Order: sequence, then C-alpha cells, then structure tokens
Amino acid sequence: DESDPSLLRAASFVFITAIHSICPEASSLGIETKAFKCKDIKHGDYQCNAAMAMFQKLKATGSLPPGVNSPVDMAKAIAAAIPTENPILDNLTVNGPGFIMARFKSSYLSKWVNSLLTNGAPSRPKLSKPSGTVVVDFSSPNIAKEMHVGHLRSTIIGESVCRILEYMGNDVKRINHVGDWGTQFGMLIQYLKEEYPDLHGDIPNITDLTEFYKNAKQRFDESAEFKKVSQLNVVQLQAGDAEYLKMWQVLCDVSRKEFEKVYKRLDITVEECGESFYNDKIPPVIEEFSAKGLISVEDGGAKCVFVPKYKVPLMLQKSDGGYGYDSTDMAAIKYRVEEIKASQVVYITDFTQGDHFQMVFAAARKIGWVTEDSHRLDHIGFGTVQGEDGKRFKTRSGDTVRLVDLLDEAVSRMEASLKERSNIPEEEIHATACAMGYGAVKYFDLRRNPTSNYIFSYDRMLDTKGNTAIYLLYAHARLESIITKGKAEGVDVDSLLKEGKAKIMLEHKSERNLGLHLQIFADAIEETLSDLYPYHICDFVYALSIAASEFVTQCKVLGSPEMESRLLLCRAAAIVMRQCFDLLGIRHVMRI
Ligand code: ARG
Repeated sequence: DESDPSLLRAASFVFITAIHSICPEASSLGIETKAFKCKDIKHGDYQCNAAMAMFQKLKATGSLPPGVNSPVDMAKAIAAAIPTENPILDNLTVNGPGFIMARFKSSYLSKWVNSLLTNGAPSRPKLSKPSGTVVVDFSSPNIAKEMHVGHLRSTIIGESVCRILEYMGNDVKRINHVGDWGTQFGMLIQYLKEEYPDLHGDIPNITDLTEFYKNAKQRFDESAEFKKVSQLNVVQLQAGDAEYLKMWQVLCDVSRKEFEKVYKRLDITVEECGESFYNDKIPPVIEEFSAKGLISVEDGGAKCVFVPKYKVPLMLQKSDGGYGYDSTDMAAIKYRVEEIKASQVVYITDFTQGDHFQMVFAAARKIGWVTEDSHRLDHIGFGTVQGEDGKRFKTRSGDTVRLVDLLDEAVSRMEASLKERSNIPEEEIHATACAMGYGAVKYFDLRRNPTSNYIFSYDRMLDTKGNTAIYLLYAHARLESIITKGKAEGVDVDSLLKEGKAKIMLEHKSERNLGLHLQIFADAIEETLSDLYPYHICDFVYALSIAASEFVTQCKVLGSPEMESRLLLCRAAAIVMRQCFDLLGIRHVMRI
C-alpha cells in the first residue's frame, strides 16, 4: 500500500513477499515473518528474523530448498529472493545466526520527505480500526483540596493522550471528574457552620481554602462527635438540602477558580463533569443491579457488587444510605457508554486506584453494559512523584508541594538562565521561559513509562543536554535559525515551499538517516495508540532531534551546493518536531 506511511509495514511487506516466494505456507506454519527495527542502527534500519525458525520447520518437514543447509543459508536464500529493483529496501546483509539486515532506499525515504514538505505535516498512520468517541477522564482533582503533584501527572498525561486521540480523528470528550461530592463536604460544611455560627445564607469569602480544609480536617480527626455529624451532613447534602447545597456551591466555586488558573497556564482543555453530576443517576443503577440479582446486601445494609477475581466488593450504597466513589463511578461509566456513546473510556489516576477501576470495568461487563469486544476500557495508573530523598515529594516543612509554586519555580529558573545566556529580546524572555519551563515539567513526566515513580528534580528537567524538553526546544530552534540564515543568504525555504519547488535529496549518510527518522513518526504514533503511553513520542522526537543535530553537524548546509535541499530537510525536521511537541502539549519557540 503506497499510501501507508508505516516503515514497519513497508519493510515487512518486502520480507514477507520474499519468504512466501520460497515457502508459500510460511505464515500458516507460525513463522514470524514481519520486520523489526534494528537495535543498532550501525547494522541496518530494519531486520527480518524469520530464517532461523523457517529453517527448523522446513528441515522437520524435509522441505528445505536445495543448497540450504543452515539458518544462514536460509537467510541468504530469502535475501536473494528480494529483487534488487524493489523500490523499498537496499543493502541486504546476513548477520549472526541468520538475521537479514536491510536499509531503506534513499529514494523511498525522500519521496516521503517530499510529501511531508508539500503537506506541511507528516503523514498520519493508517489504522485498520476506525476512530470513534473516546472519553478521557483526567486531571480530576478534589474540590476544596489543593491540586497536588499527583493531579499534575494526571493532567499532563491526560492532555497528551487527548491530543494524540484527537490527532487520529477521534471525537474526544475531555472530562474533569472532580471530587465535588465526597465525604469531605460533610466536614467542610460542619466546619463552616461551627466557625461562622450566625451564617444566614451568607457565606464568608474564603480565599485560603487549603487552610480551611486543613483546619476542618484537624477537627474531624480530633472529635468523634464532629466526625459523626460530618458524615450525616453528606447524606443530607446528597439528598438535596437547599442550605447545604448553597454552601457546597460556594466551596466549589472557590476551588474551581484555582484549578482554572493552572489549566490556563499549562494549555489544558478539560470540561468539568464532577461526581455530583451523577448523584441522581445512581439510584437507577442500583435498581438495575438489583433487578438482575447482582446485589449482595451486607449485614449493616450496605449494597455491594462482587466481581470475578476480587475478594472485596464494589459498594454501591453505604449502610447509612450514602453513595461513595464506587457508586459514582458505576453511574459514570454507564452514562459514558450509553449516553455519550463512547467506544473507549480512558481513566488516568495514580496506580493505587488500579483495582478500583478493574472492578468498575468488571462490574460494567457483568451487568452487560459493555463486552471485551464492544468497548475499550483503559486505566492508566501512574507512579509517585518523589523528592530528592526518594520519599513522596514534599516541601521542606513537610507540606505537599503546591502546584502553582512548582510551576513558578520552573519558569523563574528558566528566566534567570535565559537572561544570562540568550540573545533574544527582553520582551520575549517571559513567554520563552514559560514555554521552556512548563515544557520541561511536562516532558520530564511524559518521557517515561507512567507506571514508574520519578524523582522531581529541576536540575535534571532543565538540563540543556540529555533527554529534556530544553534540549529538544534548543535543537528545534537551531534548525529554524539555520533556515533564517539561509534566507539571509538568498534561499528562502518558505517561498520554495509556496511555489511547490521543494525537492530534497538524501545523499549523505546523515541525510538519509534523518530522512529515515522523520518517517518513523507514523510508527511511533501507532505504538502510542496501543498502550496510550506518550513516552513513545518522546523517545521518537528525542531520536529525531539527535539525527537532525548529527545532520547539521556533519553536513554543511549554508553556502553548500546542496543548500536548498538541506535547508528543506531542516524544515522537514522542524515540522515533525513541532508536531510531536504539540501532541505532548508542549509549546515551541522559534528562537531561544
Ligand atoms: N478525584 C480522584 C482523585 O483525586 C480522581 C478521580 C478519577 N476519576 C474517576 N472517574 N474516578 O484521586
């Protein structure tokens, strides 16, 4: 398929064709015929590992081709069956016990780079599965509590996951499932009543909600009496008491304003649809479970649902009649599947909630709202952010780190470093520092498998060398700066592109290598879609920027006979880098 940008499928196609010409039944014999990316670029781009297994199978059935006496012979026979005039692969060599290594033809790669330049964008992967409606439940902080580093992870990963799914044409519903209905409100309302006894519907202007929360929590932990009324308050609130609802609303509004500030700074788009939204959708859900005989009533009267493989049940209604986290999530999943008509739902929280979500998914299958085939349900559970001491990330005084402070610090460090080292005009410094500082915080998180914990370190995330956003943003700006210089020397990439005269050639080794890396984009996106881990894109863009840096170091661009083609290649690399930054939620800058 000539319109398929996947290098993996292109290389596989060549290998499979050759293999089938020798052994038409190879696939049905269970031989892995597809191509793999070479671990070490020194040996080749992609490789075929089929010869070893194929030799064994054919030997066993006595059907080895004449002259084939070893896996290496088998590999040579497959390589010989690939016609040299194939448009895709070149430089076939047989290595080790029978690996066939190959390189992409420069002409094949340059065709794709030229089309990238014509379109101004890399080709999107061609997927066999159609796109659809996807709910991504992310960020989801708790009202009245400060957003903490854990929510930062969910926010950063979630935004990127949304962008990737949108890029592939899905209709993405970005949902902020804020904790606006939990037990904390019983306590907050009680504290409000006790601290402001002559409150007649008038609610004091609480600016420091964190402090307020802390004090309420302290009383909650200290007084059994307070604890008891708090719990009753929740039930009353959930039953719709007007006075309580009003107090609740005020607390939510204060919190919401704080969250929005963070979202704005970080270019996050998310729509609030919190726990309270599902309050009236819970009773019918309990009825439905009950009607299908799936509810077990505990001694105290709590209504539970057991699912396979879990000893503890989901609790749809507590013994005091109140609803909790489980109740809300069951109502939410039904709503998302049946009303929003999502074919995929993605939840992004810390890993400790893994079991909770597996149980919610299992219960949704048990009652028949979804099946394994009809819907894809994912929970991305991320690890803990740790301080330099390897413990949970805290401030020196032991408090949780406020998100805003953390972001401020990243920006001010960048500002200081730009003032010292950069020549950009004064008025660009702040915006550049924001792009770099926020970008650094995001990339430091996104570049690893989300399940791993990581140590928060400004020094490491702001490092100009290594796998950081700072390094990448510099590499990108360097490409654009070469393009700007080229224009001053009489070759204007933009007008070449506008006139449709853009034609690149990949002759030098590092030009071809860059062309190869540019085209890996499509496979990197496809890989990301399989597990929804944005780090595949980080790995890709990092490798791409190394290839681009090698190219501009090893090949003379300005003033060379190949100047036009090489400047265009710089632009192609910059375009793909920007596309990746965008998918990661990172702003780019054209100069630093
Ligand atoms: N508010 C929860 C927390 O802070 C996260 C909510 C995640 N979404 C959900 N549907 N349960 O941990």
